[in-house]
Amino acid sequence: PLVNGIDLLQHAHKNRYAIGAFNYANMENLQAIIAAAEELNSPVIIQITEKSIQYAGLDYLHALGKNGAENAKVPVVLHLDHGKKWDAILQCIRLGWTSVMIDASQQLFEENVALTRKVVEVAHAVRISVEAELGFIGGKEEDVGLEDGIYTDINQADEFVKLTNCDSLAIAVGTQHGIYQGEINIDFERIKEMKERLNMPLVLHGSSGVPDEMIRQAVQAGINKVNFDTEIKLANLEALQHFLKENPTVYDIRKIYDPARKAMKEKVKEKMRLLGSENQS
Ligand code: 13P
Ligand code: ZN
Ligand code: NA
Repeated sequence: PLVNGIDLLQHAHKNRYAIGAFNYANMENLQAIIAAAEELNSPVIIQITEKSIQYAGLDYLHALGKNGAENAKVPVVLHLDHGKKWDAILQCIRLGWTSVMIDASQQLFEENVALTRKVVEVAHAVRISVEAELGFIGGKEEDVGLEDGIYTDINQADEFVKLTNCDSLAIAVGTQHGIYQGEINIDFERIKEMKERLNMPLVLHGSSGVPDEMIRQAVQAGINKVNFDTEIKLANLEALQHFLKENPTVYDIRKIYDPARKAMKEKVKEKMRLLGSENQS
């Protein structure tokens, strides 16, 4: 079923595990995520970005997400990832999204606070969960911007949460969007201190390309939502390329997409197993 974002994240926070959040942009993509969650009896967060809205249109993404969530055998949160435009955020809330992110992390602290407060005010009126971002998670994926991240400051985070009353916080601790080429250094101590001080659900972005053991450690340190996108897209690409190479004359789109959908499902399951969300539904 479609469930409330506040409740699901609080459950993960209290029971010290993390929920995988996976982006979807089409039907096969979404079906892979839901099927993975059902096979592992795991709650899941399905999310869209403004770029996906540009690609598919919000109505299609809504119909897909609503159907996928409501008919799933496991709890599903429908989330807007990296919401930057006020109208996209409001449209999602109106359509029944159960969680939204306001990403004003590239703005000055005061502007980030002001924008996040505005979203919290509207979302909380209908008990929708709000994720905010403080510090800056670098990388290229989804036009989120700069290459280099800026680590989240703990005192600032504490002040930010008190001022905004957001439900979860995306923190910059060394990950980057996309597959980062250089060495990955996650500041686990920072996550632990943040968890102690804020005592709230924390979110890790840019998780593709991060070694499994680091993801596990980040969850142990206090992360409750882990965003994966690029690695799922790469699983899709690899399966498509392989199939088309082996079967250059097949034109039935169902035959072409079926192995790609399976590959995405297996990749999602692999990630869910790292998070401890299996059998938490
Ligand atoms: P990756 O593409 O690195 O997995 O990041 C996903 C993400 O943070 C979506 O918000
Ligand atoms: Zn992200
Ligand atoms: Na990444």
